[in-house]
Amino acid sequence: MSEMGIFEVMYSTRALRRFKPDPVPDDVIAKLIEAGTRAASGSNDQNWLFMAVTDAAQRARVGGVYRKAADRAHMPDYIKAKFGGGDRQGRLIANSVVHLVEHIHEAPLMIVPCLKSAAMQDPRFRERMGRLEGASIYPAVQNIMLACRALGLGTVLTTLHALYEDEMKEILGLPAEYSTWALLPIGYPTDKFGPVKRKAVTEVAHRDRYGNPWPGSR
Ligand SMILES: Cc1cc2nc3c(=O)[nH]c(=O)nc-3n(C[C@H](O)[C@H](O)[C@H](O)COP(=O)(O)O)c2cc1C
Repeated sequence: MSEMGIFEVMYSTRALRRFKPDPVPDDVIAKLIEAGTRAASGSNDQNWLFMAVTDAAQRARVGGVYRKAADRAHMPDYIKAKFGGGDRQGRLIANSVVHLVEHIHEAPLMIVPCLKSAAMQDPRFRERMGRLEGASIYPAVQNIMLACRALGLGTVLTTLHALYEDEMKEILGLPAEYSTWALLPIGYPTDKFGPVKRKAVTEVAHRDRYGNPWPGSR
């Protein structure tokens, strides 16, 4: 078990996109995935599957999908327009995002969290699950990201590959009933962990009804 406290882990888990080539040992990979499996899921169904991709040729194929999706989304242009002209921090983020597009295959480990579609199993849930299905996989994704931090590994949540979901499934050999929900490149980072910068609670929380910002009156 890590010596780090849970709040220290949460407050310093930031997006890290540059990795050393050192492989992530199998027992560490197992620990990350086990952390994912400790998460909640609807009805405790645990319909998840975690693809751990370490083979260089497979990483290259997955990286190709990510790059293609980034191109289709005009990602580098978008990011440079959003962050590139700003302050130093913004330019660092832009460079880091573009670096990942070009080098994602160099991450020694990629974890692709997948979910067996509840809609396909039970038509009663089809309508509801459209919007909420991710609630049964993203808690596991966050657990993996926090476990990465606790074990000294960097990662970043990405979802762009989903633009080419069929191709991704083909590469991974996934059965039809599974969908991919994220692509986590993982490795020992060359950049530092957090602290993360986020909005203040007073900006994002209201008490009882919208319009009464936290802490609000009682
Ligand atoms: C749904 C989602 C999709 C994301 N997609 C990407 C992505 O395609 N490429 C990338 O480099 N970062 C991606 N990110 C990472 C965010 O850019 C990052 O979490 C955010 O900027 C906060 O960064 P920080 O933790 O370093 O402050 C994504 C994050 C989320 C939650």
